[in-house]
Amino acid sequence: MLKLVVCVSGGGTNLQAIIDAITDKRITNAEIVGVISNNKNAYALERAKNHGIPAYCISPKDFASREQFNQAFLQKMQELDPGLIVLAGFLVVLPETMIKSYHNRIINIHPSLIPSFCGTGFYGLKVHEGALKRGVKTTGATVHFVDEGTDTGPIILQKAVMVEADDTPEILQKRVMEQAEWEIMPKAIDLIANDKIEVKDGIVWRK
Ligand code: GAR
Repeated sequence: MLKLVVCVSGGGTNLQAIIDAITDKRITNAEIVGVISNNKNAYALERAKNHGIPAYCISPKDFASREQFNQAFLQKMQELDPGLIVLAGFLVVLPETMIKSYHNRIINIHPSLIPSFCGTGFYGLKVHEGALKRGVKTTGATVHFVDEGTDTGPIILQKAVMVEADDTPEILQKRVMEQAEWEIMPKAIDLIANDKIEVKDGIVWRK
């Protein structure tokens, strides 16, 4: 059974999609052993508690330095001992030691078709604002492994979503979540939990 730790910062609809997929057996061989948020007001923490999943808040605001926060975050992660760390709307830059210790065992969901509208500064609504400003007709979401860069790791799954004429960033964000994120995030976890993919030279292949 693959042990998952899900890291969240906000509403937690992707966390909910993972919980639902485990319940419906669209994800098999995996269980969530903990949810970590950097934000004590994140509704995602409530979602975890409602499902009996241990939920923790570790906020940079509660530590004197970034180093101390990183230390506490790493220590909690080591205690939970996940086989896979899932970043589901987690808006904190991971400590480099965590990325190294969990090589190809951390995944992230990004709300665009990488390499468009990604990298530093592109998160949440800003991604959709960028897509609308550029006038793209198709956008989507990407699940990828996390490496030392920002949104640069090997791509696991992507799904395209149409942009409509009168979209606002909020409307587009909702469509991308509904039509892409909540589908490909659980699917990627199921592929990993059932040992269906491998990474070779930075590219993800089906086994
Ligand atoms: C999602 O749209 C996710 O793709 C995005 O934050 C949102 C979290 O929503 N992540 C990023 O922008 C990462 N760069 P949720 O809390 O409802 O799952």
